[in-house]
Amino acid sequence: MTTPPNAATTTGTDRDTILRADGVTMRFGGLTAVRGVDLTVGSGEIVGLIGPNGAGKTTFFNCLTGLYVPTEGTVSYRGTRLSRKPHLVTQAGVARTFQNIRLFANMTVLENVLVGRHTRTKEGLWSALLRGPGFKKAERTSEQRAMELLEFTGLAHKRDHLARNLPYGEQRKLEIARALASEPGLLLLDEPTAGMNPQETRATQDLVLAIRAQGTAVLVIEHDMRFIFNLCDRVAVLVQGQKLIEGTADVVQADDRVIAAYLGTPLDDDTPDAPHTAPPTDTDGTPADGTPAADPAPDATAPADPPAQGHTGDTP
Ligand SMILES: Nc1ncnc2c1ncn2[C@@H]1O[C@H](COP(=O)(O)OP(=O)(O)OP(=O)(O)O)[C@@H](O)[C@H]1O
Ligand SMILES: [Mg+2]
Repeated sequence: MTTPPNAATTTGTDRDTILRADGVTMRFGGLTAVRGVDLTVGSGEIVGLIGPNGAGKTTFFNCLTGLYVPTEGTVSYRGTRLSRKPHLVTQAGVARTFQNIRLFANMTVLENVLVGRHTRTKEGLWSALLRGPGFKKAERTSEQRAMELLEFTGLAHKRDHLARNLPYGEQRKLEIARALASEPGLLLLDEPTAGMNPQETRATQDLVLAIRAQGTAVLVIEHDMRFIFNLCDRVAVLVQGQKLIEGTADVVQADDRVIAAYLGTPLDDDTPDAPHTAPPTDTDGTPADGTPAADPAPDATAPADPPAQGHTGDTP
């Protein structure tokens, strides 16, 4: 996978750190969903983000990718502050998938991946409308790359199927293929194996390893602990919006507080907000309480279409 042409250059920070979140806080009215979270992802790393339902994992992803503007804190990628516009975040080299799958349901598998390439094609609107030679060449290149990604994710044989007709596990793979089409240096996966059977989950594990092998770092949210501990170089645990602990799989697994958090034991601190363990309804962009979220306008990697198939995806 090539380095995204628009990726910012490294300045000042550790050479190997590509994502740096400093003190990220996200409040919705009186609720603090994410509180002062610091997190880094190094180049070539696979980092896990775990925590009970409602811990703030998806909200944190939304803060990283410009869907929400954090109330406090900063996010930088390769040493440069990330934009608050999702499509510019994608262009900078950070791509993501969604907990609630967001595919273009009525487009084919191939077309969905082609949409994901839009940040990497230079051909403008007029060129596309007039279908000049430049556009046709770019279109051929894009299609070739999209087919490579469909091969890579095991979906090539479904290229002409409508996204809505894919089984659930394949829709998740298609989301990954579409995210990869923007040639990211960092891929954020929000519950990539939710709803998958054990075989599909193992295949997804291999896919994430293959993505890393091609030079893309991965930050992954998942409730499947076997998946996380098998895969991740480092795991951070969020509880009630705060980072409880971060370390290798061994360190995290051995920490009693992590087990207590999953069993629902309250954090022993002076957190002013009531614990919010209820599963969210729809947290990918729509404020549940009408609070104006920063910039929920979806870009092409976050289409406004309803999920391709009826599922909520919010709870494991
Ligand atoms: N747009 C919003 N408006 C109001 N509250 C929100 C919004 N988005 C998230 N929340 C709240 O923030 C908290 C964290 O939610 P979030 O979806 O980030 O948790 P999560 O860790 O991803 O949970 P899950 O594992 O169930 O996906 C929840 O209490 C949720 O209701
Ligand atoms: Mg979530």
